Amino acid sequence: MTRLALNGGPEAAAGLDIPRWPQCTDTSKEYVLDALESEKWCRIIDGADWVDRFESEFADYHDAEHAIAVSNGTVAIELALRASGLQPGDEVLVPAYTFIATASAVACMGGVPKFVDVDPNTFNIDPESVRENVTDRTVGIVGVHFGGYPMDMDELLPIVEEHGLFLIEDSAHAQGSEWRGQRVGTFGDFGTFSFQQSKSLPAGEGGIVVTDDDVLAEEASLVHNIGRPVGAGYKHTMLASNYRLPELQGALLCSQLEKLPDENRRRQENEERLVSELDVIDGIHTLRRDDRITNRGYCVYNFRYDADAFDGLSRDRFLEALRAEGVPASPGYGLPLYKQPAFSREQLGTLVPPDTEIPVNRHLHLPGVEEIMETNVRLSHTALLAEGETINAIPRAIRKIQENVDQLLES
Ligand SMILES: Cc1ncc(COP(=O)(O)O)c(C=O)c1O
Repeated sequence: MTRLALNGGPEAAAGLDIPRWPQCTDTSKEYVLDALESEKWCRIIDGADWVDRFESEFADYHDAEHAIAVSNGTVAIELALRASGLQPGDEVLVPAYTFIATASAVACMGGVPKFVDVDPNTFNIDPESVRENVTDRTVGIVGVHFGGYPMDMDELLPIVEEHGLFLIEDSAHAQGSEWRGQRVGTFGDFGTFSFQQSKSLPAGEGGIVVTDDDVLAEEASLVHNIGRPVGAGYKHTMLASNYRLPELQGALLCSQLEKLPDENRRRQENEERLVSELDVIDGIHTLRRDDRITNRGYCVYNFRYDADAFDGLSRDRFLEALRAEGVPASPGYGLPLYKQPAFSREQLGTLVPPDTEIPVNRHLHLPGVEEIMETNVRLSHTALLAEGETINAIPRAIRKIQENVDQLLES
């Protein structure tokens, strides 16, 4: 009998070599020091150019015509909503399984987020549920390329077209992801990204919006700079806030972007290794394979766990055992968004015009989301950067738990 690590045995994944994150490289030090010593720490100071440079390099990387860097991924969505013409009380469809910012940005801009279901095979917005929920009050969709897995644009774009909606692609997780050879973020009106510390392109905090539309880009640029073009002095043509990214962050992001393509290649190779081993374990369900996904970015790596194939061992106890074996896995978000107290009628009611119809979110039940809540096993993108073949330690640890599950059921 092999003793499980939870019961004092040796860790099955002891060799799993996951790098620390984020990483301060020599180039990061060089670029940030340059920005620091330039004493131009804000993009609107004459001669400041790190944020300009990052915008141009990120736009190239994502094949977008325009990019406007902002302070984080949450305000990137707010900016995109404002520039897309969202009016107070407008209804916007959002997936109910995502980080809260996707939906709270809608509410904070005076819109009404309407939650739609998610496909457990992809963790992305379910186009069928979008069709069922669209009404004549719906003005747009904020969808998420969750974990870097692209949304099904073949299904989503015709719905957007048919109903005259705007589409914002929340690509906070998807730096480098591609659908049918086209980088994500450029299918809709705007793509928004986050560069928060845990993301695959990190700067502590930071964000960007991309678009191919010249008019929307101009609007977004005005909105991000308190209602005036960059370099326009004190003439403000619009009431707006300050969403600018600092120069030091711009410099840091230029350095981090240089290593992203190689890192994504390594993550993709490791994902292939992982999937080929996980797919043969009874009760482990990896995301649907889709040839239309031609490149992957990553933030989290998800699969689903079926307790029946582990003699009924609960997902949470399985996670405990997996972590004890040396695999840093988590259950993901603790609540579907419609159960978040922040989306109560009372709270939403404070942000929208009187008489706006507000759904009672706490009564919602979305089966796809609820299945994910019960079965999700989440790893960070950093696990996919594991050295050599040490990634194989993850399926090895899972097999060990499955073969010795009686030790957990007895205890
Ligand atoms: C899907 C998604 N959208 C938006 C955000 C918000 O990004 P930020 O933390 O940079 O504000 C996050 C952050 O984790 C996210 O996961």
